[in-house]
Amino acid sequence: MTTAQGRGLFLTFEGIDGSGKSTQCRLLAEHLRALGREVILTREPGGSPGAEEIRRLVLEGDPDRWSAETEILLFTAARRDHLERTILPALAEGKVVVCDRFADSTRMYQGLSRGDLRATVDKLHALMIGREPDLTILIDMDPTTGLSRAKGRQGTEERFEDFGLELQEKMRAGFLSLAAEFADRFQVIDGARPIEAVAAEVAEVVEAALVAQA
Ligand code: TYD
Repeated sequence: MTTAQGRGLFLTFEGIDGSGKSTQCRLLAEHLRALGREVILTREPGGSPGAEEIRRLVLEGDPDRWSAETEILLFTAARRDHLERTILPALAEGKVVVCDRFADSTRMYQGLSRGDLRATVDKLHALMIGREPDLTILIDMDPTTGLSRAKGRQGTEERFEDFGLELQEKMRAGFLSLAAEFADRFQVIDGARPIEAVAAEVAEVVEAALVAQA
């Protein structure tokens, strides 16, 4: 949709736990605002009041609290609410939506971590979400570094971080093959560099996408 400030752009960040994508999301939002764009900075699971309530259900507590199938339903329910109430209205107003994780995280964490449930994730996504980002930035990094950063935070949202290094290795490989599968919308950026260097490359890639869209 066209407005005074142009069409909305839907950007997502993906990566393993501790890859630094949340920091990069924030820096990108600040950068785009400085360029005069209206930006909505949001995250998954969460990003709307209802979805934030679901976030607590899925991220806190025992790692075995939910089966992978139940998680797919919970993450998709949260995403549907987030899409309806936050993402689509912002895009319709021509804003740039910067979202920390989206459906690619479900494809990986629920689709790969406990057996192969990717087809189930994709079916539910097609039925209930049916929307992919315009651009997805994968912050790629070695899981040993990522996990030590994530664990250093000492939070309560550790259900997935508790899965350990082996799972994170699998997630990293999975994200890289997802980037190849959806090569039209993915950009892979090396996250094992100083924050400013990563941020500069993110800004370059996003500005190119904004120009291409104009
Ligand atoms: P996030 O808050 O992005 O944590 P981090 O900043 O450490 O990357 O995500 C929280 C956790 O939720 C993360 O371990 C991945 C998990 N997750 C899923 O398992 N499936 C999903 O669909 C999403 C969006 C997140």
